[in-house]
Amino acid sequence: MPLLELRAVSVGYGRNRVLQNVNLTLERGEIVTLLGANGAGKSTLAKSISGLMPAEAGAILLEGEPIETLPPAERLRRGIAHVPEGRQIFAGMTVAENLALGAYASPDADKSERLEFVWALFPILRDRMQDLAGNFSGGQQQMLAIARGLMSRPKILLLDEPSLGVAPLLVAEIFRLIVSLRAQGITILLAEQNARQALSIADRGYVFENGRITLSGASKDLLNSPDVAERYLGMGSATEVSGAASAALAGRLRGVLFPDAAPAGGAST
Ligand SMILES: Nc1ncnc2c1ncn2[C@@H]1O[C@H](COP(=O)(O)OP(=O)(O)OP(=O)(O)O)[C@@H](O)[C@H]1O
Ligand SMILES: [Mg+2]
Repeated sequence: MPLLELRAVSVGYGRNRVLQNVNLTLERGEIVTLLGANGAGKSTLAKSISGLMPAEAGAILLEGEPIETLPPAERLRRGIAHVPEGRQIFAGMTVAENLALGAYASPDADKSERLEFVWALFPILRDRMQDLAGNFSGGQQQMLAIARGLMSRPKILLLDEPSLGVAPLLVAEIFRLIVSLRAQGITILLAEQNARQALSIADRGYVFENGRITLSGASKDLLNSPDVAERYLGMGSATEVSGAASAALAGRLRGVLFPDAAPAGGAST
């Protein structure tokens, strides 16, 4: 049984259908990435899982149990933590207060142990517990947001664009951290516009286009095309020669992620 399963989930804002008929699974211990252009529906999907947006139709199963009607706090208690796009940390509150918010649904007994856990991951937080979060850089705020998410001892961490507005050096650190969280048994759903970096650490990916999944598969299959690797994902020359199927898949991926780019073989760059 998958850890999380979405079956034919549809979500909308008013009459505007944002997600249509989404089927998606997360197996224990995976990093799964959601890719897609601006407005494709990645954040809406994360919100529908954490409960910030109600599903209008379909089912969301956590370890086989339907959760789609549960409020966000109950989903958090059951192990789904959401690190939202734009971080949403409280700039006027201290690091300690921000972290405490992440543990609000947890028993008190767990809290000091969880602090030790996040301090081990982010030593800077231990030293700056009484600092205002607003004094942190973008990358440090992102780390604080992730740490806050980890305070509830989640089974599933929903990470929405953790690289957004973060300096490149810290982006690399955040991606390394995500890999280490998987090694500790946390299952991760990673929404990213940075397709190359996301696919390089993910086990599988889903590509969204106008609220529908148009492509999904193993990360290596999504990446495994010299054309995509060289022209669009900035990986330099590719070493593997892909088969026809993976080249076709990669061509679709390119079309979805980079709709404005010149077609393969086109003259303009
Ligand atoms: N609060 C809202 N009210 C109405 N429509 C919204 C709202 N938030 C998002 N939408 C619409 O829902 C669609 C999907 O948005 P969503 O934020 O899920 O996309 P996204 O893939 O996360 O995009 P981005 O890469 O820009 O973060 C867009 O068409 C957007 O205009
Ligand atoms: Mg988004």
